[in-house]
Amino acid sequence: NWTTGNVIDEQVEAIRAQVGDKRAICGLSGGVDSAVAAALVQKAIGSQLTCVYVDHGLMRKGETEQVEKDFVAATGVQLKVVDAEERFLKALAGVSDPEEKRKIIGREFIRVFEQAQAEIIADEGPAVEFLVQGTLYPDVVESGGGTGTANIKSHHNVGGLPEDLEFQLIEPLRKLFKDEVRMVGQELGLPDEIVQRQPFPGPGLGIRIVGEVTKERLDLLREADAIAREELTAAGLDRDIWQCPVVLLADVRSVGVQGDGRTYGHPIVLRPVSSEDAMTADWSRLPYDVLAKISTRITNEVKDVNRVVLDVTSKPPGTIEWE
Ligand code: XMP
Repeated sequence: NWTTGNVIDEQVEAIRAQVGDKRAICGLSGGVDSAVAAALVQKAIGSQLTCVYVDHGLMRKGETEQVEKDFVAATGVQLKVVDAEERFLKALAGVSDPEEKRKIIGREFIRVFEQAQAEIIADEGPAVEFLVQGTLYPDVVESGGGTGTANIKSHHNVGGLPEDLEFQLIEPLRKLFKDEVRMVGQELGLPDEIVQRQPFPGPGLGIRIVGEVTKERLDLLREADAIAREELTAAGLDRDIWQCPVVLLADVRSVGVQGDGRTYGHPIVLRPVSSEDAMTADWSRLPYDVLAKISTRITNEVKDVNRVVLDVTSKPPGTIEWE
């Protein structure tokens, strides 16, 4: 019978047996999945684990600080932060195709981990052999790894792995759904700000810019996203919606008017969804006054954005993310 206690005990035992006296590294993304996976492995092997946080420059506002402060405070985990923004932006330059973006981001992630591994080995000896990943059951299924389902998107932590991977994988959440992961995280003593966080994709804002990813566009989207999150939280809606991707249509412009002048700016798409497990979803019927507030603030406060539109598509046929 399924209890969070049983899952934790079972995984702790399995991880200890798998790792022995070797060392593991875990990539933290800022999301619930990698945080819970890391906390679980930390419980099993303690200081044999080092966490690596890759700041790929595709994070949302305040996300890096949250990992650096809150997660470390909650778990006492050893953390190495790698600033890789320039590297990712260079690799993504000129790329608009969604699958190509995902593959590039997945590949660069692993390369940066390998580099971090080399540095950790240099510091601590030659026993870092395991890579912890917060892969969930829906990730496995949607990348075609579980049940033979057709490949829908290359989730960066499953389909995007290069073939010359040098680590053995530890994936303690591979059989779990999101709500179960949250329960496990709670049981492990992680704070609500981490456990109740809405999902955020590994490739980050890189797959929420339709068009080429540039620093300028990222900064713009970060602002719009921060406003949407702030207003949804203020309205007490965080638990009602599964997540709300905020998407920049960077290759689209439309005419507007602001003050006395004509504008020719980009649209921002709000994609609030309700879901049980992300396999299917429905668009959230958000209160009009909340939508109005978000729209007014984004068009007033974010440079070059003159229109906010609402995505009213369920999944299927739409996916939650636009790319
Ligand atoms: P889609 O867009 O496939 O998204 O309906 C389903 C859920 O998965 C998240 N997502 C990802 N998570 N790596 C992740 O860790 C990824 O590459 C990735 N792509 C999508 C998405 O935010 C939603 O919760």
